[in-house]
Amino acid sequence: MIPIYEPSLGEEEVENVLRAVRSGWISSKGKYIPEFEDAFAQYSGVAQGVACSNGTTALHLALTALGIKKGDEVIVPTLTFVSTANVVLFTGATPVFVDADPTYWCIDPQKIEDEISKRTKAIIPVHLYGNPCDMRAIMKIAHDHGLYVVEDAAESHGALCHDKMTGSFGDIGCYSFYGNKIITTGEGGMCVTNNEHLAEAMRRLRDHGMDPNKKYWHDRLGFNYRMTNLQAAIGVAQVKKLKGLIEKKRQIAAWYGTELEDLAMKDLITRHPETRWAKNVYWMYSLLLNELFPLTRDEVITRLEVEGIETRPFFYPVHTLPWYNKGETFPVAEALSRAGINLPSSANLRKNDVRTIAEKIRCLI
Ligand SMILES: Cc1ncc(COP(=O)(O)O)c(C=O)c1O
Repeated sequence: MIPIYEPSLGEEEVENVLRAVRSGWISSKGKYIPEFEDAFAQYSGVAQGVACSNGTTALHLALTALGIKKGDEVIVPTLTFVSTANVVLFTGATPVFVDADPTYWCIDPQKIEDEISKRTKAIIPVHLYGNPCDMRAIMKIAHDHGLYVVEDAAESHGALCHDKMTGSFGDIGCYSFYGNKIITTGEGGMCVTNNEHLAEAMRRLRDHGMDPNKKYWHDRLGFNYRMTNLQAAIGVAQVKKLKGLIEKKRQIAAWYGTELEDLAMKDLITRHPETRWAKNVYWMYSLLLNELFPLTRDEVITRLEVEGIETRPFFYPVHTLPWYNKGETFPVAEALSRAGINLPSSANLRKNDVRTIAEKIRCLI
C-alpha cells in the first residue's frame, strides 16, 4: 500500500523524546516548549509562538484572544476542514461562508466583501492543501473594513504568498502539527503573532486563564490547551527538517505534474495549481477529475485502493454538513469538492512511486 501520508521522523526526534522522559519534564513545562516556539516562530518570520494542543485549539485561542464572541460574525471559506468553522461556534459567534476561487481553490476574495455586515469581526483565510490564499487582497479588505485576520495555516507550513510566509500576514497565524502534517508533533498546534499582547493573552488562555505572576489566580475563563514537552521535543527536531521537507514536496509535485501531463492535456484532469504570486507546498498533492474523466471520483478512490494506493476525497463544503446546512449553495466549492482527490503526498515518495500512481490512474481510463 502506498499510504496517503507518513510522517518523516528520525533519530533526533527519538533522542529528544528520550531526553525529555529522562529529565522528568513530560507535561507542559520543560525546555523544549520555548525552544520549539522560538524556532517555529523564527522560521515563520513572526516574533512570538504560542504552542498548544492541536490546530483546532490554536484557532480557538486566537479567536478568544481577539475577543470574538456571541453576536459577532466571522468569515470563513466553506471549502475547508470542519474545525475552521467549529471554532467560530465555540466562541458563540456565527461563521459566514464564502465560496472558493475556481482556479486556485482557496477563499475567493472578490466574494468576501458581499458577506461583510455590521457584525463581521474577522476573516479566517485557509491555505488549502498547502496552496496560499491571495493574502494581499484579503489584508486590504480587512484593513478597509477594520476586521481581524486569523490565518488557518494548518496545511501550509512554509508556503509563501508574494515571498512572505503564510501565517505571518494576519493578526495571528494558526498551525497544526497532526501526524499527517508537513511537520508533526503527533498532536499539536501553534499560534504565531507579532503582537506581544495577543501572545500573552493566548499563553494565559491555554493555561486555564491563570495569571503567570500569581498562582491559581484565574481572572478569565481559560482552557487547558497546553502542549507537552514530549510533543515539543519532537517539534524541535522536526522544525530543523522543514526546509528540506518542503523542497522534497515541491519535487514530488513536479514529478506528479510531469507524469500526469498527458491526462491534463486531454482535459481529463486538472492538476494542483500554483499561482504566479505564491509558492505552494503541496501538503496534499491534489487533482480534479474533470467531466471527461470516465469514472466518478468515488470509483477512482475505490479502484486505486484495490491497486494499493490510498487516496482521500476533498473535504465536503462545511455549509453542506448537517450541523451547518441552512440550504445555502456555493457552486464553486461544491464542484471542487465533488471532483477533488488527494493523492499520496509523503515527503519520502520516490519518483518511481509517483510514476506507479500516475500509471494506475491512466489504467482506469
Ligand atoms: C485547514 C485545517 N484547519 C484546522 C485543522 C485542525 O488541526 P488539528 O487536527 O490539529 O486540530 C486542520 C487539521 O487537519 C486543517 O486541515
